[in-house]
Amino acid sequence: MSTAAPTAKRRTRDTWTSQTGFLLAAIGSAIGLGNIWRFPGVAYTNGGGAFLVPYLVALLFAGIPILWLEYAVGHKFRGTPPWAFRRMSVKGEFLGWFCVFICFVIITYYAAVVAWSSSYVVYSINEAWGNDSKTFFLSSFLGTVGSDEFSWTPVLAVSVPLLLVWVCTLLIVSFGVSKGVEKANKVFLPLLVVLFLALVVRALFLPGALEGLNAFFTPNWSALTDSKVWIEAFAQIFFSLSVGFGIMLTYASYLKKNSNVTGTALVAGFANSSFEILAGIGVFSALGFMAHTQGVAVSDLQGLRGPILSFVTFPKIISMMPGGPLFGVLFFSSLVLAGITSLLSLLQVVSGALQDKFAMQPIKASLVMGIPATVISLALFGTRSGLNTLDIVDNFINNVGVVGCAVAMTLFTALVRPRLAGLRKHLNSVSAPAIPPVWDFLVGIVIPAVLAFMLISSLITSLREGYDEYATYLVTIFGWGSVAFALIASAILTLVPWSHPQRTSTTPTDQEMA
Ligand code: ALA
Repeated sequence: MSTAAPTAKRRTRDTWTSQTGFLLAAIGSAIGLGNIWRFPGVAYTNGGGAFLVPYLVALLFAGIPILWLEYAVGHKFRGTPPWAFRRMSVKGEFLGWFCVFICFVIITYYAAVVAWSSSYVVYSINEAWGNDSKTFFLSSFLGTVGSDEFSWTPVLAVSVPLLLVWVCTLLIVSFGVSKGVEKANKVFLPLLVVLFLALVVRALFLPGALEGLNAFFTPNWSALTDSKVWIEAFAQIFFSLSVGFGIMLTYASYLKKNSNVTGTALVAGFANSSFEILAGIGVFSALGFMAHTQGVAVSDLQGLRGPILSFVTFPKIISMMPGGPLFGVLFFSSLVLAGITSLLSLLQVVSGALQDKFAMQPIKASLVMGIPATVISLALFGTRSGLNTLDIVDNFINNVGVVGCAVAMTLFTALVRPRLAGLRKHLNSVSAPAIPPVWDFLVGIVIPAVLAFMLISSLITSLREGYDEYATYLVTIFGWGSVAFALIASAILTLVPWSHPQRTSTTPTDQEMA
């Protein structure tokens, strides 16, 4: 009797149509809100030009090595995190789901920031914030309540674009990897680069731009002795490169067998950091213009980080400059495009995991993940306490969830067959440049030790001091709660039996483990 019958029914796993398609998607995932609104402020407040030292150390000795690790696991075991880690050891499935639920939590608030940005594209046209961009953002637009309050009251100006963001991104993911995610990145990423370059060139020609660049690049070398600065550099690299929580692992699982993985990782890593430094140049040229116009020093300016930088300080700058509305449309459209390409990668992790475990079609997986995610997103971040909840969840899921996940991932891959040497051999057999053996030491010992230090520092600070000025009950429910949610949901999904016809055995072939 032929044994070919079951094979004939095998569903083939979707793949990127080309190496370029994969590269664009990987860069699209890396370049996100973190590059434009997070990096400039983080760099400036952590030593300016001197911050580039820990930043480059973090990129070269942690970011790229973990990128290689994720690419190796995804490419070798051809699965999203739960399936790929389960194939290495049955105990690895829980870690895989933890990656998936971290992505799920991030998706719910990341979509809200993309929605705010899309509203601000429209507001830029007539500078709807008037003379007071802070009151406009916090009160008129978000209707933000105090830092000790929670509100279920929906804010229509946020909920409607948020719903639209969800419909668009879920639609793209429902077409699958090659027809949805890859095609979207091929359009959105080049468009983002063109718009953002136009914005930076405009900013560089503003009066005062040079003062801004001086402030940004002037090194404060004493910052290098502060461990907080190093922690911030590592956290920035992890969030910005989208490593440590399974995104790049998932993307690499859709690569064809003979793909140059190590070289692509280098291109993606350096493209992301170049964009990040470009964002710093654009943002600080604009801030220099603002300081020049107000007759103050750049160091006297307030609101240089996070949402306030993008939604309060930038609108102020837009109002001050000739041709401000066009600058505003370019800036906020860049945020939307950068945000959407990263959002697609986060969604693909969740959708792909459901497809792997339950043999769902992409369209069904999009609905199964999309409906609860949209409801949670609207209920928590489309309401009057959305900004506060977002700030708390973002802090905890990144500093505790992502860092914890990266520690677990590095230790797991160092301890379980084929171990790091096996993964390195796999990458070197298909790629150039070859990874040197020192990589095993970096990924297996140095990186988990550094990350564990970061994790313990964050845990101690959070337990001792809470977070910012938020009420303890809000920090407990949304901060610790978001991490607890990811852990509990991962345990539940690990216990649910696999129902994919080709995912019943976890034993990789000897050849794969070689
Ligand atoms: N890498 C993405 C960002 O920087 C998540 O926003």
